[in-house]
Amino acid sequence: MTDTTVNYAGLRLKSPFIAASSGFTADIDKIVALSRSGIGAIVLKSLFEEQINNEIGFLESQSAEYTENADFLNHYVQAYAVGKYLDLIKEAKSKCDVPIIASICCYTVGNWVSYARDMEAAGADAIELNIYSMPLSTDPSFVCKSSDEIEKEACSIVQSVAANVGIPVIVKISDQYTNLLGFMARLKANGARAVVLFNRFYKPDISLKSMKLVSGNMFSSKSEYLKSLRWIAIASAKLQSTSAKHDGNGVVSANLDLSASTGVHDGQTAIKLLLAGAKTVQLCSALYQQGPFIVEDFVGYLKKFMSDKGFDKVADFCGMLNYANISNPSGFERVQFLKTAEQY
Ligand SMILES: Cc1cc2nc3c(=O)[nH]c(=O)nc-3n(C[C@H](O)[C@H](O)[C@H](O)COP(=O)(O)O)c2cc1C
Repeated sequence: MTDTTVNYAGLRLKSPFIAASSGFTADIDKIVALSRSGIGAIVLKSLFEEQINNEIGFLESQSAEYTENADFLNHYVQAYAVGKYLDLIKEAKSKCDVPIIASICCYTVGNWVSYARDMEAAGADAIELNIYSMPLSTDPSFVCKSSDEIEKEACSIVQSVAANVGIPVIVKISDQYTNLLGFMARLKANGARAVVLFNRFYKPDISLKSMKLVSGNMFSSKSEYLKSLRWIAIASAKLQSTSAKHDGNGVVSANLDLSASTGVHDGQTAIKLLLAGAKTVQLCSALYQQGPFIVEDFVGYLKKFMSDKGFDKVADFCGMLNYANISNPSGFERVQFLKTAEQY
């Protein structure tokens, strides 16, 4: 009998498949359908700091009166957005039997600590922080923040949230950090229980038909999982210890679990990411394109793979082909590119 349960960031999930944060997970009917499809957990759509700030900015620009009442307005817009979000958590918790992970998309410490506490009180089983910095400037004379400053800001958000909630804090990052492993180690030291590799952002494109700027494909393609696979294979070898460690003061430094996101469209890809060391695998484009019940196919494929290969538990093969467990780890590094390129 194959056991598909996994432990992820301190949560017990019935399968390693997680519905990634998106508009799909803002809809209660879709959330309920997902919970009946074999999904291990659901990350709700993010509450966006930027969106709230934009709304405040827009209302302030509409009237001088608003400017005088800026504090009130600020509070009202935030409280309204957060209130709606808390209702979604409560409804999802009352209708689903899988862990519900709240998501906050933010770039400053701000009020997130109190909101994170409210989310915990509303029943969220964990919080995923989708942290992004906005160093992109179109002004070449702009003096950008250093990578150290950017990482410190992210760590301070994680630290303040993790210190103020009892539920696990998970961090979702982009692949655009100077020293990914070092950054992840800092996130772990600041209280992150898991890291999601990687978020996928909006990219502009040009349409030759309309001769206009358009949005690039909103959904990922099947080959986009490769970047996550490489970094999960390396990070799972370097940042996961086999057992939790005590620092002598009663503080337990737990493992940093990894979750794979981007380009997971079928069971085969999901299993490759588990072999590379992901504890869980997140689905987004696949849900939009194939519907919530595609998760049943993922679970079916996993069970068949496990029984064909003789694995009883997911943990039996998770990380089996990571950087530490293969004979040619340089295959995950750039040096392999030179060797491969020579053959062509
Ligand atoms: C329409 C849409 C909305 C999304 N909204 C969010 C969001 O609110 N918060 C978040 O962390 N990621 C969001 N994402 C990113 C996804 O969670 C996921 O990381 C990304 O799409 C890559 O996974 P995929 O290849 O399975 O689509 C969104 C993606 C899409 C396509």
